[in-house]
Amino acid sequence: TGDLPLADRLLAWYDRSHRHLPWRVSPGDRRAGIVPDPYRVWLSEIMLQQTTVASVKSYYETFLRRWPDIGALAAAHVDDVMKAWAGLGYYSRARNLKKCAETVAGRHAGIFPDTVARLKELPGIGDYTAAAIAAIAHDRPVAVVDGNVERVVARLAAIATPLPAAKPAIRAFVEEVLSRDRPGDFAQATMDLGATICTPRRPACILCPLAPDCKALAAGTQEAFPVKPDK
Ligand code: ADE
Repeated sequence: TGDLPLADRLLAWYDRSHRHLPWRVSPGDRRAGIVPDPYRVWLSEIMLQQTTVASVKSYYETFLRRWPDIGALAAAHVDDVMKAWAGLGYYSRARNLKKCAETVAGRHAGIFPDTVARLKELPGIGDYTAAAIAAIAHDRPVAVVDGNVERVVARLAAIATPLPAAKPAIRAFVEEVLSRDRPGDFAQATMDLGATICTPRRPACILCPLAPDCKALAAGTQEAFPVKPDK
């Protein structure tokens, strides 16, 4: 299978090995036409900034039970939202979450925009979150680049430029290889690969569907990437 395009090998791996996460629509369900609720994608992506998947899960479930849709969260008292957020840290995220809910409920009739540019106009939504929502909730073919994806790509292409200067090259690489058929699954597959196989230390290259493409693996220098800036 080494001659299939990179995205197809990654997606075949994701079909078999994706993580079951509460905010996720599985590849099988997506094929059956089930699309993820943008509210759930947004809520999970805001929580996942600076916080691990393991810690986010229970908070996500609690929020969703208490405020099942954007209208419910927009109508909530900010103090209740702050209390429910307690323990997740970076509390400006919670304040922006509430502001964003009010904006979407009030000015967008409760419907999240579906382009990166319009998503970025919302409180608390930057480049990463806008791209994640556009790709995962709306299947837009945009590059979704978090720290995991930076590491995966820096190794694949053996990018010698240190971060953050390497970011434009990393983004260009993702734009080049991403799946136009399944952009949402492609984005989540690159995140899963970085979280479970292409780990910072001792990556499990023997299990990696992209091993045939990986320049760092070929040179035996996986842990040298991504190159860190001089301190
Ligand atoms: N980290 C950030 N976003 C994620 C997602 N959608 N799935 C898994 N891990 C993530």
